[in-house]
Amino acid sequence: MSEAMAIVCENLSRHFGPVRAVDGISFQVPAATIFGFLGPNGAGKTTTIRLLLGLLEPTGGRATVLGWDIVAQAERIREQAGLLPQNMGLYQRLSGYENLELFGRIYRLPRQERQERIRQLLMRLGLWERRDEPISRWSGGMQRKLALARALLHRPRLLILDEPTAGLDAVSAVALRQELAAMARNEGVTVFLSTHNLHEAQELCQEVVVIKAGKVVAQGSPAQLRELGRRRELLLRGRGFTEELLQALAGRQEVVAIRREGDAVALELQEGADTAALIAFAVARGAAIEEAQRPQASLEEVFIELLQGETNAH
Ligand SMILES: Nc1ncnc2c1ncn2[C@@H]1O[C@H](COP(=O)(O)OP(=O)(O)O)[C@@H](O)[C@H]1O
Ligand SMILES: [Mg+2]
Repeated sequence: MSEAMAIVCENLSRHFGPVRAVDGISFQVPAATIFGFLGPNGAGKTTTIRLLLGLLEPTGGRATVLGWDIVAQAERIREQAGLLPQNMGLYQRLSGYENLELFGRIYRLPRQERQERIRQLLMRLGLWERRDEPISRWSGGMQRKLALARALLHRPRLLILDEPTAGLDAVSAVALRQELAAMARNEGVTVFLSTHNLHEAQELCQEVVVIKAGKVVAQGSPAQLRELGRRRELLLRGRGFTEELLQALAGRQEVVAIRREGDAVALELQEGADTAALIAFAVARGAAIEEAQRPQASLEEVFIELLQGETNAH
């Protein structure tokens, strides 16, 4: 099968009693991309992942993963998807090699193929030298890499990662992100990356969906999301901004508010306001404008605004 969409969710919900953990979300994940599933703690990311793998029954809506229905064909999904769970699910007393060996058997990989694959993954992730130590002696970063190897062991077509770098120190997190990107490229898998880390999503993902309290609040490429945060503000720097001119500007219909910022004047504008016309208006009334700026919000600011529900974006 070669669906264009690796995941399609339509109005998917899961309630736990009164808690609407996932509350009617819809989104599509194009195949062969790294897709970010972004949201703060408690947004419903892990619950969605459990739904997608058929580990939990939806309260409503529907979804397909790799073309399979999450309710009727969950077994097929679990065969063809790899999961790096939030709690990693590794056995601390077993060695790195033994952990992979165990999962290879669970997936019924034939012996020789299993051994070759384990060797390949451990080598590629720089874990081969220490493969025989119990992983309780390993660092958090190494354990996370092993969890990644485990998720990739059966050559899944879809890799689902639930907050893969949460709790790692910054250096290990960067290293793991690099591994992830390289692995995704080498293995040609679709990656569904759940994260509360904006920088991670920005760095790795071609597309993201942002969820909050079980609902989608924004969707698009990181660049498109940043565009949403294009503040409706015009900053004019220069001379000749008399009280009279400021009042004339404030009186224009497309100007919501106006304030002085040092030697500059900041105009808060209505959506779709014609900034060129405003500048011409100011110039015609005696302003000598040296600089005009439309400050752009950082993705971080957009994200915070989205989560506070100030920007309405779909
Ligand atoms: N098994 C459960 N029973 C009751 N509430 C749950 C259960 N699982 C998750 N929740 C609740 O659903 C919401 C979303 O949780 P979760 O999907 O774990 O969020 P995230 O992974 O984004 O941090 C939270 O309010 C959480 O307390
Ligand atoms: Mg979670």
